Amino acid sequence: MVRDLILAGRSRHEHAEPSAPTDRPGELAPAIPLPLPVDADPACDLRSVIASRRSTSLRDSGSLPLSQLSLLLRNAEIVDAGPLCPDARLRAQLFVVALDVPPLEPAVYRYDHAGHQLVLVEGVAREQLRAEVLLQHDQGDAAALVFVVTPLARWLRMHADRGYRGAMMSVGWVIDSLYLQAAQLGLQYSATGGFALARANELLQLDGYEYTTALAFAVGAGASALEEPG
Ligand SMILES: Cc1cc2nc3c(=O)[nH]c(=O)nc-3n(C[C@H](O)[C@H](O)[C@H](O)COP(=O)(O)O)c2cc1C
Repeated sequence: MVRDLILAGRSRHEHAEPSAPTDRPGELAPAIPLPLPVDADPACDLRSVIASRRSTSLRDSGSLPLSQLSLLLRNAEIVDAGPLCPDARLRAQLFVVALDVPPLEPAVYRYDHAGHQLVLVEGVAREQLRAEVLLQHDQGDAAALVFVVTPLARWLRMHADRGYRGAMMSVGWVIDSLYLQAAQLGLQYSATGGFALARANELLQLDGYEYTTALAFAVGAGASALEEPG
């Protein structure tokens, strides 16, 4: 399993996972528990996963099973949650724009890592996303877009101009984990900066200062899922 392989390489640094930042108090939106992730192939070889990783366009991606989204999210922050991140409050956060992830309603969700659940932000339609947020319209064919959000102002307050570098490295680790997990699952995927930043922040209900979107990861079902009848 990719998560275990990454962890094994960093075992000498291991310590308890810090709790998620709680600077969005009073959140009353409904939370949707995610299924407990089950690894697709515990015996997978990290080298072959890296070798097979390829960014793809996401035309006709089909539905993404919720179990696979669950696995992606659970494992995405594995490095960012570890000792390389100097403060739990600096961790990147994930927001999911679910377009075709049954039984989820098409909507924007915030991923609550500690509770392994999605918190509804607001509904969204595929065409609205394509027209108002995405600069590469083909990425609107994705089953889901995972937006990586960073607490940029806090990074800069705590680490001055080096904070920007830290924030981007943190986002990079998360994207790296998403890539490897998606490759292991045989999905279609691509990192993307092809969106209008201010519009994306508006959609995710971020102020663009304390929290801002940094990058997105478009993902769709793998070829085997598309071959299934019905
Ligand atoms: C940080 C980052 C940003 C990217 N942004 C875009 C993008 O805006 N649009 C796009 O089509 N692909 C984007 N990509 C995917 C690259 O095009 C792709 O990684 C590159 O062509 C190399 O292919 P590979 O990922 O299969 O090795 C991005 C990749 C990374 C790592």
